Amino acid sequence: MILKGKKVVLRPVKISDTKMLHRWINNKKVNRFLTTEIPISLAKEKRKVRQMVKSKISKHFVIKKKDTGEPIGVMSLARIDKKHKRAISGAFIADSKYWGRGYGSDAKMTLLRYAFLKLDLNRVESYVLTNNPRSMAYNKKCGYKCEGLLRQYVLKQGKFYDSILLAVIKKDWLLLAKRQSYL
Ligand SMILES: CC(C)(COP(=O)(O)OP(=O)(O)OC[C@H]1O[C@@H](n2cnc3c(N)ncnc32)[C@H](O)[C@@H]1OP(=O)(O)O)[C@@H](O)C(=O)NCCC(=O)NCCS
Repeated sequence: MILKGKKVVLRPVKISDTKMLHRWINNKKVNRFLTTEIPISLAKEKRKVRQMVKSKISKHFVIKKKDTGEPIGVMSLARIDKKHKRAISGAFIADSKYWGRGYGSDAKMTLLRYAFLKLDLNRVESYVLTNNPRSMAYNKKCGYKCEGLLRQYVLKQGKFYDSILLAVIKKDWLLLAKRQSYL
């Protein structure tokens, strides 16, 4: 299924994306903001992408620029929990030249519209490392609120990092989405 935003389009991750995703995840400039340890071998990335494609509880999308169709990043809705009507969102834009230009927040608003209106979820969480004010800012633009500091939450390359838990609730998002013309 294709999700259309104002500046981006989200389309499901495919097996043929593996090499591109492998190149993206191993980029140190991006990876410093993520919890995934690198380097990741192509064989491991292949296994990961196969799981992404067949998962029943997570949806993984490639973010494409709407004007040119260029793939610029990945956005996911993971651990979709139908009982509690919640899930976890995550994303990255692979090339830093596209950071801070509104692509991430458009992609996130588009994903949230799908999460709240199509999947009928009530709450979407996001976990952000404390070294990442840009991610905090874009989540807040999309209605997320900080719920707490998770001390030493991530162990990466032998070092613990703190994370912030943010979440957006459907009723708050609906008001924001109307104001931003996403509804
Ligand atoms: C996080 C990410 C997905 C956000 O997407 P984006 O397209 O860059 O975000 P947007 O341009 O939509 O919004 C970014 C907001 O942060 C603000 N911002 C940019 N740099 C900032 C900084 N250093 N400190 C605080 N705010 C900052 C921008 O001003 C913008 O807000 P505004 O539109 O109100 O001015 C993208 O930057 C990215 O992929 N970064 C690297 C990987 C990553 O951090 N992934 C998320 C892991 S939790």
